[in-house]
Amino acid sequence: MTRSDPNPADSTANPIHNPIPEQDQSTGPVPQVFGPDIWIHDGPQVEGAAGFQFPTRMALIRLADGGLFVWSPVALTPALADWITETGPVRHIVAPNALHHVFLPAWQVAYPQAQIHGAPGVAEKREEIRFASLLGDAVPEDWKGQVEQVLIPNRIADEVVFFHRASATVIVTDLLQAMPPGSFRGWRALVARLDLMTGDTPRVPRKFRMALRPRDVVRGRVEHVLGWPAERLILAHGRPVTRDAHALLRRAFRWLY
Ligand SMILES: [Fe+2]
Repeated sequence: MTRSDPNPADSTANPIHNPIPEQDQSTGPVPQVFGPDIWIHDGPQVEGAAGFQFPTRMALIRLADGGLFVWSPVALTPALADWITETGPVRHIVAPNALHHVFLPAWQVAYPQAQIHGAPGVAEKREEIRFASLLGDAVPEDWKGQVEQVLIPNRIADEVVFFHRASATVIVTDLLQAMPPGSFRGWRALVARLDLMTGDTPRVPRKFRMALRPRDVVRGRVEHVLGWPAERLILAHGRPVTRDAHALLRRAFRWLY
């Protein structure tokens, strides 16, 4: 697999695989419209733990002041940089967990005026980055009322889950995954299947089910997520969901109760 495909042609029957409008990509891949003032953009694969190759996906939100909120940035290409120049100034760059930080240095160089915000554990891994804030449950003034957030404690990597109100989109990093079967080969394919990393429906990988502690705190934070009127869902590793995301999220966390 070279990259995840958020726009499969054979997917109209499944709400998880709803098509997403395409844009002109004549000068290279550019972000795709996902909803009002929100775009997604897929980058090249990166190598994670134990040699697993993961697809990468970022989201971009245009805030009310016109500035861009960049979530989990992927490799910055000339086509992506041109698109950003036409769309709005980069105001905030968010590393939503301590596993998604590889491209921060390039973005800091390209957009030195932007504020970079890291989830717990990111700053320790990226000492060369000037962080504006540590992300937690408190929503910063700059995106309050537009983007909500909640910190999900996870012993592998705490994750900040976001909700973009204008598009009713929940944005998760690694907490839910649904990579296509066939994404991995050999023993990695078996491990990915048993861990629930691959499949048609976004699910919490088994390794995270063990690591989501303390359990009572996790339940409270997940209930906060389930309180959002979600229609759409963006995953870093899996096809985006374009409707009925709230019901899907309820099912995805049923094991927790
Ligand atoms: Fe990831």
